[in-house]
Amino acid sequence: MRMHRKPHLDERLLACSDILTSPDLSDKNMKRAATVKDYLDIKKIFNNQNPVHLEIGCGKGKFALEMAKLHPDINFVALEKISNVIIEGCENLKKTDIKNVHFLNVRAEVLPKYFPEGCVERIYLNFSNPLPKQSYIKQRLTYPRFLKIYKSLLISGGEIWQKTDDRGFYEYSLQSYKEEGFTILSTCEDLKNEPFAGNVVTEHEQKFMDMGLPIYRIVVKV
Ligand SMILES: C[S@@+](CC[C@H](N)C(=O)[O-])C[C@H]1O[C@@H](n2cnc3c(N)ncnc32)[C@H](O)[C@@H]1O
Repeated sequence: MRMHRKPHLDERLLACSDILTSPDLSDKNMKRAATVKDYLDIKKIFNNQNPVHLEIGCGKGKFALEMAKLHPDINFVALEKISNVIIEGCENLKKTDIKNVHFLNVRAEVLPKYFPEGCVERIYLNFSNPLPKQSYIKQRLTYPRFLKIYKSLLISGGEIWQKTDDRGFYEYSLQSYKEEGFTILSTCEDLKNEPFAGNVVTEHEQKFMDMGLPIYRIVVKV
């Protein structure tokens, strides 16, 4: 279902430019665009040198905002490709006094343009679209080309924390991590049976929990 463009979206994005990097990429070839570097000035954005955690596909940003409140000593960068969606997170952030979240309105494919190698301590993949059709396999956020990007961004020993409601995507991702040489630190096939301290429930997670569906979780190390 197509989402209606929010009213005055461009003006609203502009009003958030202090907490949102929203580049207008002229090169639509993401692989090529990623080679022309335009690194985020993390030190300037956050005014500190704290570790960076990156959420990919943050949707409306609920997870990033809650995590930031719980972990003031971590800088959270929340990435989302759809401006119509990320705007909600940006506007919610501006209503708070949280200083350790920055939004990035780009596709994950182009991440190496904005981050140098080895600068992210942890990546979160929360309820990424499972894209079960074989024809969309290359768009899955745990497809090898994405894992290669994550590997280059993560510090040595950096981790990926993934949650999904989709068993097929869980199994595919596990296999993909193994093939790309990640170390599997833990897996869980139903979070309600193995809750972990500090779990922050995302918008999609809440929906699936309310439906009584199992939530799968994988933690891997680079
Ligand atoms: C199912 S939603 C989950 C949102 C949120 N993480 C949650 O758990 O509630 C997946 C989000 O990932 C975003 N997404 C999918 N592929 C992406 C990509 N290649 N780059 C950036 N964002 C992407 C989608 O636009 C969507 O907002």
